[in-house]
Amino acid sequence: MEKVWNDDEMQVQTDNLLYKKLVKEDVVVLREIINFHDWKYYLKAEPIISDVEYDKLFKSLKELENSYPELVTSDSPTQRVAQALTKDFKTVAHTVPMLSLSNSYNAEDLNAFDESIIKLSNREGFSYCVEPKFDGASIALVYENDRLVRAATRGNGTEGEEITANAREIKRIPHVAPFSKFGIHKIELRGEVVIELETFDSMNEQREKAGLKVFQNSRNTASGSLRMKDPKEVAKRNLEAFIYQIGFVVDDKGNEMLGEAFTSHFQNIEMLAGLGFQVPGQEKTLSKNIEDVVGFVKGWEAKRDNYNYEIDGMVVKVDNLRLQNSLGSTAHHPRWAIAYKFKARQATTQLLNIEYQVGRTGAVTPVAKLDPVRLAGVTVSSVSLHNADFILEKDIHIGDYVKVERAGDVIPYIAGVDLNKRKQVGEVIFPTNCPSCEAKLVRPEGEAVWRCENVECPAQAEERVIHFVSKGAMDIDGMGKDIVKRFMLEGLLSNIEDIYRLDYEQILALEGWKYKSVENLRQGVADSMQQPLWRLLVGLGIRHVGSATAKILEKQIQRIDDLERWTPDSLAELEDVGPKVAESISSFFQNEENQQMLKNLEQFGVKVEKTKEDNILKSTKLEGLTFLFTGALSKFSRDKAKELVEENGGKNISGVSAKLNYLVAGEKAGSKLTKAEKINDKAGETLIHVISEDDFLEMIA
Ligand code: IVH
Repeated sequence: MEKVWNDDEMQVQTDNLLYKKLVKEDVVVLREIINFHDWKYYLKAEPIISDVEYDKLFKSLKELENSYPELVTSDSPTQRVAQALTKDFKTVAHTVPMLSLSNSYNAEDLNAFDESIIKLSNREGFSYCVEPKFDGASIALVYENDRLVRAATRGNGTEGEEITANAREIKRIPHVAPFSKFGIHKIELRGEVVIELETFDSMNEQREKAGLKVFQNSRNTASGSLRMKDPKEVAKRNLEAFIYQIGFVVDDKGNEMLGEAFTSHFQNIEMLAGLGFQVPGQEKTLSKNIEDVVGFVKGWEAKRDNYNYEIDGMVVKVDNLRLQNSLGSTAHHPRWAIAYKFKARQATTQLLNIEYQVGRTGAVTPVAKLDPVRLAGVTVSSVSLHNADFILEKDIHIGDYVKVERAGDVIPYIAGVDLNKRKQVGEVIFPTNCPSCEAKLVRPEGEAVWRCENVECPAQAEERVIHFVSKGAMDIDGMGKDIVKRFMLEGLLSNIEDIYRLDYEQILALEGWKYKSVENLRQGVADSMQQPLWRLLVGLGIRHVGSATAKILEKQIQRIDDLERWTPDSLAELEDVGPKVAESISSFFQNEENQQMLKNLEQFGVKVEKTKEDNILKSTKLEGLTFLFTGALSKFSRDKAKELVEENGGKNISGVSAKLNYLVAGEKAGSKLTKAEKINDKAGETLIHVISEDDFLEMIA
């Protein structure tokens, strides 16, 4: 099941961990944060931190686990590759795990890698093959008896999604290749699915003309396209694939040929080129020593912007496969290879001012307002400065010229100050009082952030309401961030309880509101009253309580106020609830104002108690998905169909719109089907999956 995490809260927690000295107790939060970023990167394809920051977190976790080996758990991110899979495709196991690569950022890192190889190889002579690190989506292709029989995504490294039909639509992936002439019976090739940058730009131009949303970058587009439901749509995306590795290769008798008949990675790649595959050609080299490797990777770093594919670094691999085999791998990466990551793209601009934003937990985040500057395809005018320590550490002053970096497509960050350009600058004076309510700010021990602890602070209240109504929490249809802000301004809302006291007459009188939109909002608010308890728990915005913890808590209680009786110690006994989280939950429920708020919510009709049905374990197979049935149904009645959707955690909706995920079409489906097809055509991708009754039954089987 897909986890629901809140980006803003995770960003605050990430910053906290990045800029403080970590202690043993941080291990649980650190793992949760790394899991979150893995999920954002691998599954959502929307990373929000840079690789450097990710590596820092990962390294910190490893260090903590090294210092306290008793803290290592089998599901720690250090023990595996990445996160779970989506439910759209059949899951298949990789015969050989698809690992990650460890990263290097400079010549020293590469020298250290070289030394470790020299040591582990007993100083026998060897070469390195150096090739581009393509920034796309990894793929594993299995050929048997010369035919492509299976294609899979990397997934979590152990299991991937089976996307054979889609892979067959990719030019440069041959359906047939004469492997048998090399005595090969079965072979797995690994590579990266990419889009040529010129093609990507013209695709975007066309989309813009057609009034469609433009794609963010080639990697996300490649990754998203690979997972489209309809292979015909995949064909339209101009995907290509570069093969960079053989996973395994066996002869007729099932004997592994890597390290036997095939002993050089470089030669393997050349062989694949001869068989019709697209591989790194001129872009790769064989080097006998690390100095040449360093020269080659730096040369590519200088010319990366002239290359027609997005690359985010180079990969250095021991060429001799016997040596590769003897070096082996950790659970995370092979010891015989390392990625050299290019520096993020950088621009220099002036810091004009600093604004201080108050988050829903009271954390005050300084935000740099910059003279707008173009950087890696976007205009940057506002960048988070994280906290007061960050400003001190980077010696940032108002009026300074700052170096802004953006790695891949993650959010931009300030890498440092250009001191040569410093003229007249002003010291940054971090506020001592909340910019919204003026309460004195406090900095809790061990934390990097200053907080406003006034529970009535309007800025916090606004953020709390925004969080309460958000998708991951109470998911109130018709109410988003902008509407909350507007209602706050109009004096219609000042806290969470007010959502259930809204004056709809007054809303109707506001500019831009019509009877229908007011009705939708009223319905959305009414529906939210029946949300499961875990959603309410998430919505309350208790620090460190995301959906995973909320679901654990829900299992333990009958009514939400049962939690008032739980002590921090008893909470900490629950699976995955650490002392810090336990403390936070307990103090929330001990707070009298919070207790009163829960009583009020109950009075307004918000569900605060589990029903009998809640206690029956429900399936979550359709969670987060919407359905509509159309045409003559032969396998079940319309009412039964709707019931099945609900029983499995899905949602029924009444009309065809881009919000619909599945249209289940029976015989003689008419206008709804046509409308769905139109929406898909207009979007240029399959937003609404049209499925049969049998397909639907299979989804819940
Ligand atoms: S070799 C066992 N070579 O980088 C390791 N990977 O962070 C096999 N990638 O998931 C990886 N270009 O998708 C290798 N020339 C290249 C690559 C490459 C891109 C990707 C690959 C992998 C990720 C590792």
